[in-house]
Amino acid sequence: MPKTIVIVGMQFGDEGKGKIIDFLTEKADLIARFNGGNNAGHTVVVKNDVFKFHLIPSGIIHKNKLNMMGNGMAIDPKVIVSEIEDLERRGYNISEKNLIISGNAHIIKEKHVEEDVLTGTKIGTTAMGIGPCYTDKAARKGLRIIDYIKEDNKYAKRLRPLVKDTSLIINQYLEDGKNILLEGAQGTLLDIDHGTYPYVTSSSVVAGGACTGLGIGPTKIDAVIAVAKAYITRVGSGPLVTELGTEEETNKEDSIGKLRKDLGEQSLSFLKRKIINKANEDDEYSQGRLLRLNGMEYGTTTGRPRRTGWFDALAARYAARINGLNAFVITKLDVLSDFKKIKICTDYEYKGKDLNDFTNNVEILKECRPVYETMDGWCKDISKVKSFKELPESAQEYIERIEKLVNVPVCIVSLGPAREQTIIARKEFLF
Ligand code: IMP
Ligand code: MG
Repeated sequence: MPKTIVIVGMQFGDEGKGKIIDFLTEKADLIARFNGGNNAGHTVVVKNDVFKFHLIPSGIIHKNKLNMMGNGMAIDPKVIVSEIEDLERRGYNISEKNLIISGNAHIIKEKHVEEDVLTGTKIGTTAMGIGPCYTDKAARKGLRIIDYIKEDNKYAKRLRPLVKDTSLIINQYLEDGKNILLEGAQGTLLDIDHGTYPYVTSSSVVAGGACTGLGIGPTKIDAVIAVAKAYITRVGSGPLVTELGTEEETNKEDSIGKLRKDLGEQSLSFLKRKIINKANEDDEYSQGRLLRLNGMEYGTTTGRPRRTGWFDALAARYAARINGLNAFVITKLDVLSDFKKIKICTDYEYKGKDLNDFTNNVEILKECRPVYETMDGWCKDISKVKSFKELPESAQEYIERIEKLVNVPVCIVSLGPAREQTIIARKEFLF
């Protein structure tokens, strides 16, 4: 049984890490986030309560857990204080007993946000000031939390008691043999070093980032688990080899909120039925749109419609390699339930040649065409299934095929946002 587990995104973020972390938090003593800032967005659903977090680890909604924000993070003081205040309004008491912040994490300043708004459009950043903040960090002119809290303002005052030597504390937890969950934000393909540069975020997203982003040694990590959707999505620009429809088509679409408002629930479900029919007549744009509607693929942080595509086994295998995965989680399998046929990308065709390995070279990626294997869908509701064996045979085959292509075992399959909609396929890499 591992004591220290790293959870990372296996694709381009939004894989459903928040739900999986919430699920594993049950048995964790400490939840420590190691990278990124409020470019991330986690939605956690507990019974009828919906929580949206950008900065604070979602372990905060569990009693008696310590949540840690590591030195690898970029923190906007206004955003974190508003998350704290929101939690307090909902009856959660926030103190250094349940939330601590590294003094070495960097502060996102207003000028970082302003700069990102002006310059981030080419990459399609979240415009939260992430890139400019890390730029100043690397240029050794950033503002760290430890210095920020000396200032005399409302935010500095609220954060002051929460700032601790987090590396010391996490290493004490390690020595005491406590269960520790190391939480990464974004996904492997957005990593500053290993992602599809320059269409990446500015932090170390991959499992290795857990060490530098928290101040622990690699020998202390027992298991690395990634989270992947049963298909793939991407927000912002950059190549997406299995994209269904085009980036322009997706960007032209309305947000789900506007669709609901304009159409009403009844017309929306009529529209969806039309899209299902077209998707099953092999219309690619409709397939992508169906993934978007069924999967609610609209950004938590920006509200943008996400680009969607079929599962990319090359990208997944790459993520397995870069992170040294022990196992991975497949989420949102239920989103595929309306499809009669489901595709998996097994190879890329590049200039007439077959490519078997992913590359993060965007010049090459842009020219790659997906080679698909087609599998049977199951066309029934699986959202209430309780075990792997109970899944329709074709759903089991789909998971097993992906597992074989990635060459890493699947440990959890998720069939919906609720905690109950989680199947444990293998236990050995979990607490
Ligand atoms: P930035 O992190 O705001 O600088 O954005 C850089 C790229 O990463 C853009 O393509 C964003 O859409 C993407 N990105 C950043 N954070 C997330 C996330 O949490 N989920 C999905 N995409 C993200
Ligand atoms: Mg997200």
